[in-house]
Amino acid sequence: MGEKTLKNLYEAFIGEAKAYHRLLAFARKAEEESYPQIAKLFRAVAAAEGVHTERHLRLLGEAVVQDTESNLKSSFERETTVNEVYYPQFIRDAEEEGEKAAALTFSQARDVEEGHAALYKHALAAMLRDETHDFYVCQVCGYVAEREAPDRCPICNAKREKFRLVT
Ligand code: FE2
Ligand code: FE2
Ligand code: FE2
Repeated sequence: MGEKTLKNLYEAFIGEAKAYHRLLAFARKAEEESYPQIAKLFRAVAAAEGVHTERHLRLLGEAVVQDTESNLKSSFERETTVNEVYYPQFIRDAEEEGEKAAALTFSQARDVEEGHAALYKHALAAMLRDETHDFYVCQVCGYVAEREAPDRCPICNAKREKFRLVT
């Protein structure tokens, strides 16, 4: 594929993925402000941007989605970079600016990403084993628990009810 087209496809993929989440947030706001029809419009366009995201991704193919072992490795690397490089800097900046809520969000996300990296590392080592177990995700901070939901989230202290079983 042409170099510019590849880059543009990737940018379009990122942009559409962001739009998807932004529009869902706009829909929630519209619901809150009692505009159910506008909320529905935002959800409809969000769904459409979701279609664009997937479509661009399919064309990107191997440039993004490789075989499972490679995907586990690249996911491990991404998690490691965000928790060792990006979030630490974001936390420092938030602290410097006295942004406590952002500092907390960043620091819990950093800890959670570290856990995600560990899960990938384990999965890579266990790839060929017939291991099956469930995962539960904390809806507050994104912590992933294996096998069962804890009474309290070890990262953000959320209650067990905040965990959602991934199917
Ligand atoms: Fe779009
Ligand atoms: Fe992560
Ligand atoms: Fe949590």
